[in-house]
Amino acid sequence: MSLKFFFVRAFLFLFGSRIFSKMFVQCEQSKTYRRFCQGVYGRDLCQANMVDEEQLQKLVSLADLKPFENVLDLGCGGGFTSEYISDLTNARLLGLDFAKGAIEAASARTHSKFPRINFQVGDLNKLPKFAEKFDCIIAIDSLYFVNDLEKTLSSIASYLNPNGRLLIFYSSKLGTNGDVQLETALTNAGLLFQKRDFTANDKEIWTRTKSVALSLKEDFRAEGNSEIYKSRIAEAERNLQWHDEGVMGRWLYYCTFKS
Ligand SMILES: C[S@@+](CC[C@H](N)C(=O)[O-])C[C@H]1O[C@@H](n2cnc3c(N)ncnc32)[C@H](O)[C@@H]1O
Repeated sequence: MSLKFFFVRAFLFLFGSRIFSKMFVQCEQSKTYRRFCQGVYGRDLCQANMVDEEQLQKLVSLADLKPFENVLDLGCGGGFTSEYISDLTNARLLGLDFAKGAIEAASARTHSKFPRINFQVGDLNKLPKFAEKFDCIIAIDSLYFVNDLEKTLSSIASYLNPNGRLLIFYSSKLGTNGDVQLETALTNAGLLFQKRDFTANDKEIWTRTKSVALSLKEDFRAEGNSEIYKSRIAEAERNLQWHDEGVMGRWLYYCTFKS
């Protein structure tokens, strides 16, 4: 492990949950951010992901959830996407994230939907013991943050029903082997996978991110949320540059034990 990698990991371990919590609460309370999400993603789910309607509806249709099936959403953040999926399908959903503030807000918001929807603080690096296995496990843009993909994925697989499915949204800079590492870890966890390429759609999302953020710049400023505006613009510019260089990839992985 390089020294830089070690310090990034150590920083995330020490401060990651607090940083994410602060970000979620700030975004949730920002009316402008909610309009930004509607404009960029086509639906306001207070997104902390790169999932627009096209990606979300593909995930929902592949997950093919039946009422009362049980779903685990790993790294669920503020839980708006989890809540949307459960409301749509009537599946039971448990959202897990290490950002305590986000989990508390999600629990309070969905209180009336308990026990169909439930949230729990937990670490992807050391999954808690769950009372039952899951019919479906979802990880939307959350597996980048784990220390050891192999370890986390074999732990995830141990909580998947034999006929269960695991759906993962994952972006990676091509050539950095992020997708190769993920695919190796899936195979070693005993999972078969099919992947759908959302790279072109991802570029459209970052293009919209930039234009919608620019159009809302003054509103973010008036709210005292210029920080959100700046971080979104910086993120969009970096990702668009990678897309222009042809080195960015995004996929939805659909994984099962059997083909
Ligand atoms: C990019 S956000 C995606 C959030 C959410 N899946 C969504 O679609 O909006 C990544 C999420 O992973 C969570 N996360 C990062 N490291 C984690 C860890 N070690 N354990 C649990 N959650 C973690 C963050 O708090 C954050 O909510």
